[in-house]
Amino acid sequence: MYLDSMENAYSLKGKNCIVTGGAKGIGLGITTAFAHQGANVAIFARDETAAKQVIEDFSAKYEGEFTFYKADVGNTASCREAVEAYMKDHDRIDVLVNNAGIGTSGRFVDMDEELTDWFECFNVDLHGAARMCYSVLKYMRKQGFGHIVNITSNAGEIINKPFLTAYAASKAAFNHFTKCLAAEVAPDGIRVNAIAPGFTFSNFTKNMPEEAYVELCKDVPIGRFAQAFEIGALAAYLAGDISDIVTGAIFTADGGYALQH
Ligand SMILES: NC(=O)c1ccc[n+]([C@@H]2O[C@H](COP(=O)([O-])OP(=O)(O)OC[C@H]3O[C@@H](n4cnc5c(N)ncnc54)[C@H](OP(=O)(O)O)[C@@H]3O)[C@@H](O)[C@H]2O)c1
Repeated sequence: MYLDSMENAYSLKGKNCIVTGGAKGIGLGITTAFAHQGANVAIFARDETAAKQVIEDFSAKYEGEFTFYKADVGNTASCREAVEAYMKDHDRIDVLVNNAGIGTSGRFVDMDEELTDWFECFNVDLHGAARMCYSVLKYMRKQGFGHIVNITSNAGEIINKPFLTAYAASKAAFNHFTKCLAAEVAPDGIRVNAIAPGFTFSNFTKNMPEEAYVELCKDVPIGRFAQAFEIGALAAYLAGDISDIVTGAIFTADGGYALQH
């Protein structure tokens, strides 16, 4: 399943792809980039209304198949059941993108006694991806091929101010999980890579006042936030056979922000 010429090298035509959180924000940017390359995209998420709208729009516009599987990545049974349902409907799974995530802000020392934010963040951002990888890898290992793309964050590499300690720690662990898993499953023909975005337009930024945006951009060498589909474009590269030599890599995509932090 590797590339032997540059003919249609970027194409994802006919590839079966799962994108967690694929109907909103960066996930929607990934679904968009994949759709442009001819992929079939299954959105794994909780919000059925948002996903159904994307499916309706994309089915009218692109040649691929667009579907929805209800999945809460914070719940092991939900991930397992959604992947099993997907595999009943499809003969193979080519690509998994672990994009679903939540943010937490604030200092570790200010958390409540139960460390609620810490556990919630790890449960979705790190353990959610682990659950999805575990269920999908059962099938990918039998097939002998597959590509996994993890959406981490530049927060996993730097110290953000204001602090995002729980989130940053979960994303740092997610980066290292990416590398360890890549080494584990390379002999099975499976690649695992990560994209570490910086500030990207999404739900998280949509109510941001213009002055706050301008202030944050002063600290970004490129001078702006990313569009979600720019993260999607890198995900499309990592999802396709064109990147077949690449595994265990973390691609920072943040306009240079992490360089000076
Ligand atoms: N935006 C940024 O500046 C930025 C920067 C660096 C990294 N990231 C990372 O990029 C990823 C996407 O973030 P975003 O900014 O696009 O956020 P967003 O617009 O808030 O979207 C979050 C997505 O995650 C899904 N999700 C959340 N919890 C879930 C759960 N328990 N089960 C299933 N799906 C769940 C949501 O779908 P439902 O609502 O349907 O469940 C939604 O599609 C995250 O991993 C985030 O950490 C974002």
